[in-house]
Amino acid sequence: MDDSLDIFDLLTGMGQDKYQIEDDSQECITSPQNYEKDEYTEPYAIIIEEECEKVSSPLSIVSTEDEDEVGGVAKFTKVFDKSAVSASHFHLPALSEELDPQCAHVTMEPIPGVEAWIFDNVFSPDECTLLRERAETAGFTYWDMDQKCGERDDFRTAFTVETHVEDLAALTFQRIGHFMKPLTIDENCTKHERDIEGEWFPCGVNPHWLFSRYIDGGHFSPHTDGNTVFDFNKRTMYTALVYLSSSEDGETRIFDDQQMNEPFTLIDGKLRGNPDLVLGNVKPRIGRVLVFYHRLMHEGNPAQYKYIIRTDITYERQPRICDEPHDRVAFELYMKAQELSEKGECHEAMILFRRAFKMSSALAKVYGQ
Ligand SMILES: [Fe+2]
Repeated sequence: MDDSLDIFDLLTGMGQDKYQIEDDSQECITSPQNYEKDEYTEPYAIIIEEECEKVSSPLSIVSTEDEDEVGGVAKFTKVFDKSAVSASHFHLPALSEELDPQCAHVTMEPIPGVEAWIFDNVFSPDECTLLRERAETAGFTYWDMDQKCGERDDFRTAFTVETHVEDLAALTFQRIGHFMKPLTIDENCTKHERDIEGEWFPCGVNPHWLFSRYIDGGHFSPHTDGNTVFDFNKRTMYTALVYLSSSEDGETRIFDDQQMNEPFTLIDGKLRGNPDLVLGNVKPRIGRVLVFYHRLMHEGNPAQYKYIIRTDITYERQPRICDEPHDRVAFELYMKAQELSEKGECHEAMILFRRAFKMSSALAKVYGQ
């Protein structure tokens, strides 16, 4: 990472963007630097893409083939790893029949002191049961099936299914989207990065769905979530967790940012956050949706039986900027260059950065070129 950042600075002269890249990485890197058990005292970082972990890079670019296969998934995603189950498997005609376009039954409760909201009655118990059954028949597999993270049962024990379902996303947005507020991102905003300045409006739910099944004490240690960048003016901002089951355990704990710098504690073989830093403790309730800012550190408590879906709330910048056809191509090159840089493929990254900024003077200006 250091090499890539150095070369990035060297080739682009974007000193400030060095930190932007680091921020992007930290968005999905959990660094439990000092465990309380001796065997965990060695510093390391694990890159986690909730709820579908990806360990090679904080940013991956989905191939054209994959896009076709899953019906036009985002090009730049941090939450796409396994092969997606066909959307037709999750085509649920019952949902549209039950659809309440007014969403009159949905309630929203903010969690004090944190950028998170609890929505109840978003899905009916029948809908949740149907989704659980469809996910089961699709076939859950262990979250780190290829052992890219090594044997990390101490960090997460879960089984997942991925799919891409546009109508389910549209339905969810119809039910909760009107609760979401626009965002103004300027230099005074804690979310500020130079390339996301502007007015952002909620525009949908990410159609990429990650089903997760936690059973027999399955858990997910504290982490932050990755986002998905659809294009320069459209990206996910908030995580949305859909609870498909109810239980008294398996709560989602949301932490104060101080947990970022706190060691984890190994309890019963699971790495746990500091309970004194918990700001929100959300119980699984069937049909509930928890929405929170991607960068909030959160943890899935051990559960005997919990089904959830991870998706995101997508925002679009208005007015769009850098949006001419050549700007769009240039941004794709930029994202590819960033990925290469983070992998340490500096020469290839340099070529693409230069091509991107030469192609789009508007994009170059945004990045201080
Ligand atoms: Fe997460």
